[in-house]
Amino acid sequence: MMAKRRLSIRDEADARRAALEATRYALDAGFAEAPGRMIGTAVSELARNILKYAHAGEIRLQQVQGRKGRGIEIEARDQGPGIADTEAAMQDHFSSSGTLGLGLPGVRRMMDEFELDSTPGEGTRVTAVKWK
Ligand SMILES: Nc1ncnc2c1ncn2[C@@H]1O[C@H](COP(=O)(O)OP(=O)(O)OP(=O)(O)O)[C@@H](O)[C@H]1O
Ligand SMILES: [Mg+2]
Repeated sequence: MMAKRRLSIRDEADARRAALEATRYALDAGFAEAPGRMIGTAVSELARNILKYAHAGEIRLQQVQGRKGRGIEIEARDQGPGIADTEAAMQDHFSSSGTLGLGLPGVRRMMDEFELDSTPGEGTRVTAVKWK
């Protein structure tokens, strides 16, 4: 199993680096090109949300073992303002900042498992897994 990665997200360069790092991590773990790129894109969206709404946070990558074999888990966490209505935030085109509002629903579609945990005033955590 590959070592876990912890990527601190504080600026645009960190977000870009995290997306590249996640793609490389997936390819090194044996993912094919297309799903490997989806993992990178998911990390890019989650890192951009961290920057936009919480200003800073962390992305963790790890290999996981499940009944269906191996996969990669992405965990994005921050101590920002949190999300009051998580159901609304998961709808296509819901955005509190006037952009496309496709980030979180896109991540859910690109990954096999998805969980959004958020407490207003405490922060947000997104956990997502893609199986190989
Ligand atoms: N880490 C976060 N902290 C606080 N609120 C968040 C966070 N991530 C997402 N949100 C909230 O959930 C909404 C939906 O997020 P999503 O990424 O789907 O869309 P967006 O960021 O508004 O637009 P896009 O990602 O398409 O540019 C955001 O508008 C914001 O209100
Ligand atoms: Mg977004």
